[in-house]
Amino acid sequence: MTMIEFKNVTKTYPNGVKALNDVNLTIDQGEFVAIIGLSGAGKSTLIRCINRMHEINEGTLMVNDVDVGKLKGKQVRLFRRNIGMIFQSFNLVTRTSVINNVLISTVPDLAWWRKVLGLFPKEKKIDALEALDKVGILDKAYNRVDQLSGGQQQRVALARTIAQHPAIILADEPVASLDPVTAKVVMDDFKKINKETNMSILINIHHVELALEYADRVIGIRQGEVVYDGKSEAVTQEVLDQIYGSQAELPKMNDPEEAEV
Ligand SMILES: Nc1ncnc2c1ncn2[C@@H]1O[C@H](COP(=O)(O)OP(=O)(O)OP(=O)(O)O)[C@@H](O)[C@H]1O
Ligand SMILES: [Mg+2]
Repeated sequence: MTMIEFKNVTKTYPNGVKALNDVNLTIDQGEFVAIIGLSGAGKSTLIRCINRMHEINEGTLMVNDVDVGKLKGKQVRLFRRNIGMIFQSFNLVTRTSVINNVLISTVPDLAWWRKVLGLFPKEKKIDALEALDKVGILDKAYNRVDQLSGGQQQRVALARTIAQHPAIILADEPVASLDPVTAKVVMDDFKKINKETNMSILINIHHVELALEYADRVIGIRQGEVVYDGKSEAVTQEVLDQIYGSQAELPKMNDPEEAEV
């Protein structure tokens, strides 16, 4: 089943930067996709258009049969509940417990005073504890977030997203601030969640080796355009040169083909 479809999508920022240029992509339910490319290529823009953190200017973007560009006001909020978002900086409330961080996402409709007082329904608590168990930090449930390591904090963020039961998880450089070993632990969690729940997962990632090791499919972006879209196994040095530009290519930056953009 198709989960995300970009049809001739172009995104130009108000300052005139064309961050996405005529992007065409189809991502199915349950796919684990890594998006790679140089800094400034448009990776964050691409995933942020999916949950309408950014609006597209041209083309159509369908997510779970919803035309994202047509959503208005409250519809945007409801739509976003179905999409989990994970950032490099974890985005947790560090002065409260791990379980409270997870619970906050599972009960968007709960009265604000219940959230403040920590009065969450029992079944939501069980749900939250299950999510923490899935990422291996159940024993940290009642610790304050600021007592956790970076890797553990990212797993809290992942648990929070799982407890939200989204159809899609978007992750923008989720392991960029972690050491190589911890980065793998977190990537293992993503992989496990992907296999167990069949959520579609899109990860922006700078580490090519991790992208190739964990993702089933790789999308290479260069200057706002998709220059590679295929299986991870099929990524060769030639493909990487196409995405990142080999050293030999660098002096050619001013050739007519590049200048066209
Ligand atoms: N809010 C914004 N306003 C204007 N231009 C922007 C904005 N956000 C990004 N850009 C520009 O759009 C282009 C794509 O940026 P984007 O953040 O999507 O790249 P990226 O591939 O995620 O890079 P990185 O790997 O550094 O995170 C860049 O040229 C960037 O300067
Ligand atoms: Mg980015």
